Amino acid sequence: MNAVKIKSVGAYLPSNIITNEDISKLVETNNEWIVERTGIKSRRISKGEDTSSIANKAAKIALDRAKVKGEDIDLIIVATLTPDNFTPSVACIIQKEIGAENATAFDINAACTGFIYALEVGRSLMAVGRYKKALIIGAETLSKIVDWSDRSTCILFGDGGGACVLETSDSKEGIINSYSISDGKKGETLIAGAVDVNNPFIEEKVEKHKYIKMNGREVFKFATKSMTSSIEKVLENTEYTLNDIDLIIPHQANLRIIEYAAKKLNLPLDRFYINLEDVGNTSAGSIPIALNNAFEEGKIKKGMKIILVGFGGGLTCGSTLIKW
Ligand code: UT7
Repeated sequence: MNAVKIKSVGAYLPSNIITNEDISKLVETNNEWIVERTGIKSRRISKGEDTSSIANKAAKIALDRAKVKGEDIDLIIVATLTPDNFTPSVACIIQKEIGAENATAFDINAACTGFIYALEVGRSLMAVGRYKKALIIGAETLSKIVDWSDRSTCILFGDGGGACVLETSDSKEGIINSYSISDGKKGETLIAGAVDVNNPFIEEKVEKHKYIKMNGREVFKFATKSMTSSIEKVLENTEYTLNDIDLIIPHQANLRIIEYAAKKLNLPLDRFYINLEDVGNTSAGSIPIALNNAFEEGKIKKGMKIILVGFGGGLTCGSTLIKW
């Protein structure tokens, strides 16, 4: 089995900043409530850029940093729940944009855990020798599916994306282990409908809920449990324990969820990288954006042991253990 390492990262956020104050002009809410319950102060909202455009900008930064050309990439996986189209996939659009003529390209959807799942799929395919250089992206334009009249959800989400270049490696560094699990029984707690089944042969049409609808308290419960269990699970059967971990990069959904996990695991909060204050929850974009920002801030050094951990719609959760 080949070892697989993250060669580079990149991220892109739309420039348009929407503050809590701005949102309080749309729905009955206020900055104090949002900051106290979530830790979020602002988020970036697209002024027309779709997911492929966001993903493309993040991907190009990662490719430049890796000094890898599009034609050298043989696998592209994009994690998103807000693709531009049903087809072509965002991954195929990226393939065209970067000239990755030799690549297999496809999207996956595991909502906010998408990037973790995409890393796991990419790494597994590379480990068995099928691919050598991959581009793994998590990107969203959640503002397309946010119900801007629902104060319990529209305060949470933002647009953006992040990417990384994966490479097979001879050394022991790289992705050490990954863990994932899903719980479809709880799917109804966080939904966003696609198109309705509508054709000339239907007698009774059933309309789906088109925008994000969430039972916040139920998702919160799942999030706190799954964050801690995913961190513990990814360390199982490895030579590492929680004490060896230098940095945890969690899905950026709510500061209270991260604080709860830190307390439960008996870790100081500064062991967790947090950027939700001015990014908000960007679903599949969240973890790669945080990974990129931590890298740019010099918080990631060679040899560090890092855990990426996420949870979200599906419901889904998972984690990745990396030796940088
Ligand atoms: O990526 C994964 C997806 N999602 C998550 O991780 C979200 C997980 N859940 C959460 O983060 C939290 O549940 C929320 C931030 C969504 C909500 O916080 P909460 O502390 O669970 O609040 P709540 O839903 O229990 O609502 C408390 C009160 C309610 O009023 P009453 O019924 O007590 O009078 C809400 O109507 O706060 C009210 N409320 C608001 N008030 C001002 C709900 N949203 C707002 C708002 N501004 N934006």
